[in-house]
Order: sequence, then structure tokens, then C-alpha cells
Amino acid sequence: MGRFPEGFLWGGATAANQFEGAYNEGGKGLSIFDMVQFVPKEERKHDVEMDVRSDEELEKLLADSGKGNFPKRRGIDFYHRYQEDIALFAEMGFKTFRLSISWPRIFPNGDEQEPNEEGLAFYDRVFDELQKYGIEPLVTLSHYEIPLHLVQKYNGWTDRRLVEFFVHYAETVFKRYKNKVKYWLTFNEINISAFSPYIGSGILVGRVAHKEQAIYQALHHQFVASARAVKACHEIIPGSQIGCMLARLEAYPETCNPDDILAALEVDQSNLFFTDVQVRGSYPSFMNRYFRENDIHIEMLPGDEEILRQHTVDFLSFSYYMTMVASGAPGKRMEKGNFFSGIQNPYLEASDWGWQIDPKGLRITLKKLYDRYQVPLFIVENGLGAYDKVEEDGSINDDYRIDYLRAHIDQMGEAILDGVELMGYTTWGCIDLISASTSEMSKRYGFIYVDQDDYGNGTLARTKKKSFDWYKNVIATNGEEL
Ligand code: BG6
Repeated sequence: MGRFPEGFLWGGATAANQFEGAYNEGGKGLSIFDMVQFVPKEERKHDVEMDVRSDEELEKLLADSGKGNFPKRRGIDFYHRYQEDIALFAEMGFKTFRLSISWPRIFPNGDEQEPNEEGLAFYDRVFDELQKYGIEPLVTLSHYEIPLHLVQKYNGWTDRRLVEFFVHYAETVFKRYKNKVKYWLTFNEINISAFSPYIGSGILVGRVAHKEQAIYQALHHQFVASARAVKACHEIIPGSQIGCMLARLEAYPETCNPDDILAALEVDQSNLFFTDVQVRGSYPSFMNRYFRENDIHIEMLPGDEEILRQHTVDFLSFSYYMTMVASGAPGKRMEKGNFFSGIQNPYLEASDWGWQIDPKGLRITLKKLYDRYQVPLFIVENGLGAYDKVEEDGSINDDYRIDYLRAHIDQMGEAILDGVELMGYTTWGCIDLISASTSEMSKRYGFIYVDQDDYGNGTLARTKKKSFDWYKNVIATNGEEL
């Protein structure tokens, strides 16, 4: 018998904001990521260029709309090419395909009562196409696609009213797709808000006096909304399964000095805070000290704690790209809530974007998550962002990507032998798409090459890379032949 269980969900992952395009077609409203412009590497002021911070910045971006380069608006045109793309996924033998529904395609402003029928009909067509090939959709309700109007009018999730808007949106799509979609995720990388409040929670930080307070209050609203969505999903779609989604960042101590061990433990706790709430159903006590020392007071309504406790998720899904190193030395310590540690791990190599490649870290993290939570796990993102070269004969020989994926899948197999319950694996960006953090097209993850550059030039033609046939065989052999 092989290492991977029968029915293991092999597939690929995407998000509406990074691949649909057609940002102003079919009645869709603007989303937060429609406002993010491409900034060439040499001109970037921040590690990641995806936050809008103030009303002034937003006004300027709206005014620049006709002239600027907003890659997420064009995506890779899945909106018009979904049949061709799904046929390619089917050719690879995908068992599942992860995509998100764009919230403003269904509710253009986010706070209306009536949904946009054209938006609903689009996802009907996509789900029907997937069904044709026996591919199970895995659908994220919110993947950085908060309707922009909710930012402008309410300052995003800082406002409690978003809970009702989100639950209404979730119930609308559960009812509409109840016969088509069984697997759901609530918020993509719910922990992203801790370092990117605009993308994670739709917050313009320029409007708030106490940034951390705003972030954790918004997160509380998202936790409640997520639990209410879990409840609604179970009621509306019998037999459905709904999970949370974490950007998992395993932190290693820099040395065996107890100061480093403690620092790594605390960084890890700040990452697992989110899943503690969503899987265990309550705020972990270690956060109390953090809240106290940072003057954070979370306002809860009566009944919130009960909702969190009663409607925990069915499974825990996460993205995994890298591991971090934490140090207890003064001034070197990795900041809590900060995703990026400046400390290099001398045992690991890094991608062209400095993301440290650590397949064994995936096994470590799987074991740790399963030990802590004892619920099924699902890796819904993993992959290598790289520059691909198209050879003269048109071929793309992405052996580096195959090596990366092979090593990670091998460690998944080991973790399963170690007793971890793993439902599936969807590689990130199974078709090249726009990067979340940098809006680059040239940071490619796919098995399928898309002819487009950072400025939107190209034919958008799809070409199979070398990794396409490799992954096809991995799926065909249920992970036995890597
Ligand atoms: C995850 C996101 O953080 O990482 C995706 O959920 C994102 O949306 C992926 O694309 C890879 O990051 P990037 O910045 O390379 O696109």
C-alpha cells in the first residue's frame, strides 16, 4: 500500500483576484486588490507592495485608474478562458481545484440585500465545467477580495456590521451552490491582517488612532463571521466540510539557548493564535498578556464566545512556503505578528524572492499542527515562485519546480506515515497568475505557462511546462512516483 490514502485530494489552487481578470465585467464591483498598482522591484518602498493606507492614497489610486498598471484587474483572464483552463487541469488528473468566489462579483458593494445574478451565473458555469470532469471545487469565501465600498464606508472589518454582510454573502452562495460545492474555506490566511491590515481586513490604517487595536477588533469580527459561516454551511449543505486557512510560519530557534527557544515558541504561538480560535473555539490565554501590554481591548457582544465555541471548523487548511528563524537576543528578536524574520537559516536555500525552501519543515509543521489540534489537515498552498524561461522551441524546463514539489510531497508522505491525517494538497498557482505580494506576473508558480508580462503584454496563450506531465504522473500514481 502507498503512503497516500485512497481519495487523497490532489489538485491546484488559485484566487479570483489574481486570475479572473474582467474586474469591471458582469456587474462586478471593485475589490481591495483592484486598487493595488505594480511597482517595479527597484522602486519598491516596502517588502510587499499591497497595502493602501489612507483615504488620500485611495483617492489618488481611483483617480489614476485609467493610467496606472493594476495587474490584478486583468489577472490571466480566467473569466473568459475557464473552459480551456479547466480542461488542462482535468488533463493533469486534478481531483480538486481551489478557487475563490469574488465577493464583489456577488455583492458589488458588499452591503446590498440582492445579489448580482450575473456574478452567481458565472460561478455556476465554472462549477458545472468542473463537475463535467469530476473535479471537486474547494471554494474560499474571502481571498483578499473585500468589496472596496466596505473599506470606504465602514473602514472594513473594524465595523461590526461587516459580520452581517459577510454572513448574508456566505448564505447566498451556500444556497446557490449547495449541490455543486462540498468543500469550503472561510478566510484565506486569516493571520495576514496582523501585518497587512488593508488586505486582510480592509482597514485604512490612516483612519485609526491605535492600529493594533483596530486589527484585533477586526479579527474578532472575522472570527465571529467565520464561525457563523461554519454554522450556515452545515445547516444549508448537509455533508459539507468547511475549514479555516492559516499562513503557516513555523519558527525555529536560532540556537539551543533557552532565550531563542522561548522566542521561537512565542512566535509560533502568535501564528497559532488564529487556529486556536477557529479550531479549538476560544481565545488562547497566552494572548491576554499581549493584549494587556499593547493596550488592546476586544469588544465582544454577548453570545460571541458561544458562537466561537460551538461552530469550530471541520478541518484546518494552511499555506506553506517557508520557515522562519527566531532569536531571543535583544534587538534581533523576530517581531510578533511580523511575518518576515531577517535571520537567515544557514541550512536552507532560498528562492529568488528570498523565501527559504524547507521541505522537512512541512513535515515538522504537519506533525505539530496535528499534535495540537487532532483535526484533518489540508495543504491548500505550496509551491515555488520562479522566473521561467521559454526556450527557442517553446518548451519550459522547470526542473527546479519539480525538485521543490517532489521534496515537499515526499515529506507529506512521511508525515502521513507518522500518523498525520491529511486530506489533500493543492499547489499554489497551478496556472501562472499575478503575485499577491508584488503584483508581478514574472513570479510564476504554474504547471501551465501564461504568455503575459508584468505590464500586461502577451497573447495570454497557455503552454504546458515540463512540470505538467510530472504532476500528472504524481496524481495518476497517487503520490507513489515522484
Ligand atoms: C499566499 C496567498 O500568501 O501566498 C496567495 O494566499 C499568494 O494569494 C501566495 O499568491 C504566494 O505569494 P506571492 O506573493 O508570491 O503571490
